Order: sequence, then C-alpha cells, then structure tokens
Amino acid sequence: MTAEDGGGWRAPTAHPTDWPADEIRRVGYRVVDLIADHLARLPTRPVFRPVPPALSRELVATPVPMAATAPDAILDSIRDVILAYPMGNGHPAFSGWVNSPPAMMGIFADALAATMNPNVAGGNQAAVYIEHEVLGWFKELLGFPPSASGQLVSGSSAAALTALGVARHVAATRAGIDARHAGLQHATTTFTAYQSEQGHSCHRKALEVLGIGSSHIRVIESDAALRMSPAALEAALARDLREGRTPVAVIASAGTVDTGGIDPLDAIADVCHMHGVWLHVDGAYGAPAILTARYAGALAGIARADSVATDPHKWMSVPIEAGLVLIKDAATTRATYAHDPPYLRTDGDPEGVTGPPWFSELGLQQTRGFRALKVWASISHLGRAGYRAAIEHTLDMAAQLAAHVQAAPDLELWEPTSLSIVCFRYVGDCALSSAVLDAINRALCTELQLGGDVFPTSTVLRGRTYLRSCIVHAGSRPDDGERLVRLAREVGARLASTQRA
Ligand SMILES: Cc1ncc(COP(=O)(O)O)c(C=O)c1O
Repeated sequence: MTAEDGGGWRAPTAHPTDWPADEIRRVGYRVVDLIADHLARLPTRPVFRPVPPALSRELVATPVPMAATAPDAILDSIRDVILAYPMGNGHPAFSGWVNSPPAMMGIFADALAATMNPNVAGGNQAAVYIEHEVLGWFKELLGFPPSASGQLVSGSSAAALTALGVARHVAATRAGIDARHAGLQHATTTFTAYQSEQGHSCHRKALEVLGIGSSHIRVIESDAALRMSPAALEAALARDLREGRTPVAVIASAGTVDTGGIDPLDAIADVCHMHGVWLHVDGAYGAPAILTARYAGALAGIARADSVATDPHKWMSVPIEAGLVLIKDAATTRATYAHDPPYLRTDGDPEGVTGPPWFSELGLQQTRGFRALKVWASISHLGRAGYRAAIEHTLDMAAQLAAHVQAAPDLELWEPTSLSIVCFRYVGDCALSSAVLDAINRALCTELQLGGDVFPTSTVLRGRTYLRSCIVHAGSRPDDGERLVRLAREVGARLASTQRA
C-alpha cells in the first residue's frame, strides 16, 4: 500500500509526533510479533542458508523509492526478505566466529534507546549517567579503579584504536614528540609494538592507522598452547630499548579468537612494568569469563593493564554493536583526544546543562549513540549470577564437544582447549598428506555451513586447517555438539574417499 492507495494511511513525515499514538502502538505491536515469531522459529530453521542470487541482486538493485511506502508493507518486506536470511548466530547450533544471539532485554532496550535518540557525546541527561554506570560495573568486574576513563564503542577494534591512541601519545611524549601537533613526521626514534602471532588483526589495523606501521609490530613467540612467552617479550623489549627504539604498547590476549588462549597476563604485566611500557589487554571475547571460578584466576591479571577492551556483544549477548574500552589514566586520555571546541561546552557542570566531562573529549566519536542502555538492560536482567550461569553452560557445552571429538578416531582435537572454543580437524584413518587434509577440512567446513544443521568456522593453527567451534549461545544443547561431530566425521569420510579414489 502506498500513499496514493489511500486506505486511511498518511504519508510519513520526518517528525515522529506526526504518528498518532494508536498507530505507533499498532505498528509497534506488529514489530513485537515479528521479533517473537523470528526468535521462536529460529531453532526450527536451517542454521544458515545463503541469500539466493536472484534475491541478493534484487536487494541491491532497487532505486531510491520516489513514493512513500506504508509501514505494513515495509514490515512485510523485512519479514519475508530480511529476517528470512540471517547469518545464523541466533540459532543454538551456530558456533561460528564469536557471534552470539541477542539478549532479549538488549533488543527492547535498543528500540527504547532509539526512541530517546540521545547524542551521548555528553550533557546532563540520563543516558550519560547510564553509560557511567555500565563503565563502573565493568571497572568493578575487571579490577580497574573507579577513576579510570572509558566509553562504549562499536567493538574491540574501535576500543583498541582508542586505547592505543593514548598509548602512542604517552610513548611520543616520552620521546619528546608532540604527536598531536607534529604527528610522527619528525620522529628520530622508531616506534614499536608487541603481540603474539595469535593477537587479533584489529591491533595491526590500529597500529597501521596510528602510524606505527605493521613492520614495527614484533610478533612474540608463543608456547605450545599459543600463549605469548614473557621471556621472549622481555628479550624483544630489551633489545628495542637498547637500540633506541620506543615501544608504544604490548598487546596481550585474554582469550584469543582462534583458540581462546589466555596469555600469562601477570608475567606480561611484570615485564611491561619493568620497562615502563603500556599494556593493553584484548578481552574482546574472553574477559566476561572472569565471572566464573574456572577462569577468574587466569583473567585476574587484566587488572594490571593500562587499558582493556571487551565486547559485551560477544559472550554477553548484548545486541551488536556494544564494545567497551577502559583506560586507567583518565588525564592522559583527555590529553590525547580533547579539543574542547567553542561550539561545545564540555568542561563539565554536574548540576547544569553540560553534566559530567564529555565522552566526546575522551575518544574518537563526536556523535555517540545510546549503546549503554542495551548493556545496562541486559546486565540488569541477568545479573552477575545469570551471566555466570550462562557462561558456565557454554564452557560445559564446549567441554562436551571436546570429549566427543577426542572419542572420534578420525578427528584430531587441538589441545589444550580454552574458554568455549574447540578446534579440531578431520584426519581420517589413513595417511593423507597434510596439504590434502587441509583441503579436505576447508571443504568440510564449507559443506557443514551450507548443510544448515551446524555452523562451525575454520582457522589455521601452526600451519594446519582446523574447524573451529566457539560456543557463546547460552541455549546451546549437548546434541548440537554431538551432531557437529557426527556430521564432521560423515562428510569428512566422504571427502577423503574422493581423494583416495
Ligand atoms: C579476540 C578478539 N579481539 C578483537 C576482536 C575485534 O572486535 P570487534 O569485531 O568487536 O571490533 C575480536 C572479534 O572477533 C576478537 O575475537
């Protein structure tokens, strides 16, 4: 139905109050129905099915609509064409990448945040205080002091860029360079950074953008469990310092994306403190496991970092995008980013219009959405205990999956497993070459993903291709793991037989 069709429906204008309250309710209830139907049906649908080529062509080929479209027609399209083709991460059998289902209160909160539509750059408005509340919760969980700076960002890539920007400011100042004014244009020292081979690519991206350059990132040796070696880090730092280079940051992982490995954070913090080098901990995926007795000890060292990134949109299931950065040195964070432009008054006035010091002066974004509401609502709903139970359940599901893999003679488990990630590969019952097995496992992964019953992803560990299952769905069931193993064996055997024929 369009405006021209009549039917009592009026063409929308830009102003939300032009919608009568009853019409907001009617359309809103339809949205709620779509949400409920979509989530209820998800587990009965294929985990994933690709968008058919004709539809994907159609989706990008429609010109800017000239005429208005009725809300019901828009919702019908969303139901039939958009909700019908998700990537699969709401399904309990999905275990690809680090993509979780959405927490229900987060879904509702996102709509309410959009209803208020605040610009959380700053101001004496509730949204600002809710963001401070959320930041305070994460400071408490991760052992950061209340005085630390921080903010919600799109994800850990943005968190890393924000934190490493401050680390660069510190390192440049130490080298006598005013990086804000001169950039690194006239530097007579070489800036360096350090992470293990398992460090996430987002740090490379950030360091490239910050002018450090990827050739100055030292890849620190790791042990058999793919955890950074503090001794190798110490040697690399000592050599660079001896030779006049300026380390910007060490980036340690609190849960690597490939295997969930947790670097020895305490020992790494010792090395960083000894040399006065910034420590950034990437807790994008793993940090929330600090809630569990199993991982609280291994993750306690996060508290010793200068900055930490974590993603409530990963293991905590807050709807994407919800990343978070904490930086201990609030004054230097402000010194790195603040511009205090005259058209804003960001100095802070707790009782007036401006409210607390503005977030926009402590990071990269000026206009900022109300991400905090969905984090606040999700954590309020589940509480610490609820999140602990949800995370422990996924740890149990991962342990069961690992046990099924171990019991299968034609599969090889990557050990040690860590957090809720299980990596394994099909190896068959005869000696196929490594290259052939890699090709089989790549094809196996694709076939499983397209099959619609399970959805692992793949990765390369020590040069070999593995299937990788990362369980962050609190509704994951024991039979999801059994099915993954059964199908991996069946499809793997068929693919291997074509190699032998
Ligand atoms: C360990 C780890 N670090 C960093 C990132 C980057 O985070 P984001 O994608 O939220 O920017 C990811 C993303 O999967 C990750 O798993």
